[in-house]
Amino acid sequence: MTETGIRTATDADRAAIFSVEEAAFARTDEAELVDAIRRDGDAVLELVAERDRALVGHVLFSRLGVDDTSRFAAVALAPVAIAPALQGRGIGTALIQEGHRRLRAAGERLSVVLGDPAYYGRFGYTHRRAAGFESLFQGNALQALAWGAAPATGRLVYPRAFGVG
Ligand SMILES: CC(C)(COP(=O)(O)OP(=O)(O)OC[C@H]1O[C@@H](n2cnc3c(N)ncnc32)[C@H](O)[C@@H]1OP(=O)(O)O)[C@@H](O)C(=O)NCCC(=O)NCCS
Repeated sequence: MTETGIRTATDADRAAIFSVEEAAFARTDEAELVDAIRRDGDAVLELVAERDRALVGHVLFSRLGVDDTSRFAAVALAPVAIAPALQGRGIGTALIQEGHRRLRAAGERLSVVLGDPAYYGRFGYTHRRAAGFESLFQGNALQALAWGAAPATGRLVYPRAFGVG
């Protein structure tokens, strides 16, 4: 049986990451976003999934500010991409769960995602936890997951590469 391995992304993975992101979304926007986040130094954690030495999945967590009376350092989960032929086999779940495990171990306390609640809800993300944040993305798709004491209000400040301030 082919095993899927998960490891930290390296510079040697850049082209393969671009390809997986492009294939998963059938456009280059997310692939370019990933490159821009890295270039700007805003990546917090980036993992890849490998099968038979081929890169088949990728997830990126970047630094997200929550501005209230001061700035709290949270993370944004985006994007996550699995090679189309291998979707629906648990690779996305494994990447996100391993990401969460490492982030918690590193002392991170809050992760925010914009996406389908039917998917992200299984990891513990809820809109309720994100409903108090001020964001251009405010709505049901905006969800948060807290591992410790973290703000529930304040303005979300995305990395520059998102182009949303
Ligand atoms: C979304 C994505 C990352 C999920 O990864 P995956 O490895 O295919 O998913 P998993 O095998 O871990 O989980 C499969 C489950 O998630 C569900 N699921 C997959 N994509 C989903 C989506 N976009 N919305 C809601 N549910 C989704 C499946 O129905 C399945 O549910 P089940 O366990 O009840 O049968 C992957 O399918 C992908 O790359 N899609 C295209 C890009 C994308 O939409 N990225 C997410 C937005 S940033």
